Amino acid sequence: MRIGVLFGGDSPEREVSLRSGAAVCAALGELPWKVCPLEVREAGEVLSLLDEADFFFVALHGGWGEDGRLQALLEMAGKAYSGSGPEACFCAMDKEVSKALFRERGVATPPGFTLGEGERLEGGKDPRADALFRLGTRVVVKPARCGSTVGVSVVDAPCDLARAVADARRFDEKVIVEGFIEGRELTATLLEEEGEVRALPVVEILPASGFYSYEAKYTAGASRYETPAALSAEEEADVSAAARAAHRALDCRVYSRVDLRLDGKGRPFVLEVNTAPGMTATSLVPKAARAAGMAFSELLRRIVEEARS
Ligand code: DAL
Ligand code: MG
Repeated sequence: MRIGVLFGGDSPEREVSLRSGAAVCAALGELPWKVCPLEVREAGEVLSLLDEADFFFVALHGGWGEDGRLQALLEMAGKAYSGSGPEACFCAMDKEVSKALFRERGVATPPGFTLGEGERLEGGKDPRADALFRLGTRVVVKPARCGSTVGVSVVDAPCDLARAVADARRFDEKVIVEGFIEGRELTATLLEEEGEVRALPVVEILPASGFYSYEAKYTAGASRYETPAALSAEEEADVSAAARAAHRALDCRVYSRVDLRLDGKGRPFVLEVNTAPGMTATSLVPKAARAAGMAFSELLRRIVEEARS
């Protein structure tokens, strides 16, 4: 079997995808399949590469590679590929949609609201943001359809809101404003096997700067990771259950990575689901796999086998 690894793309996460693609190609190279590295820049290029492989591993992040458009194209071409289908990818990529589905399915997610295209803050303020500030001390402002923390700000005071919204709008006109959950930053990798959604050991992220920014994510040594996270048995079960519920709420397939925050009372809040999570040397999914006793290549083997089953 020939596995085409799609990476690159033209989203703000291109650099991350180049690194994910390289790591995935290297690890797949340890398996008895022919690996075809396929760096692409535009979605249209994929059309000319469809005959290059029997199976496609999606190592693209953001934009058309992760929001369901590529997955729809591969479906229509009758090509097997890693990970979730177009609808799940679309729902996961758009945080307004995913948060609505989480609420509908009883999955706890931080309170918040969406500033739609063209929706302005009157005098730099919004009564809904004021209500969030009254609930907690800080709010988070993020582009609705982006990854890797690009354009994300943690805001301490209402007077800084307008600047944060403008920052987020550099990446997406649609912006999410949500309450910051004071507590711990966790992530759970889900892997489907024989009809079960298995949660791998939870990873805790301890960024040196206190905020898990783009630099904290992709600079070696800029964050510390506890794998498995030091959680009580009850917390571990609650976090894994919330992650599994989020994966199911969006109808994800094969694997995903769910990012959460655990508040001071040990309650998990789901921030988002990643259907094409980072696979770089500092990424979280390979760490979770290692903690479960699985080499990166073994994780990829299982993803490919599950996606083909
Ligand atoms: N969006 C990045 C790649 C991640 O979720 O890991
Ligand atoms: Mg993401």
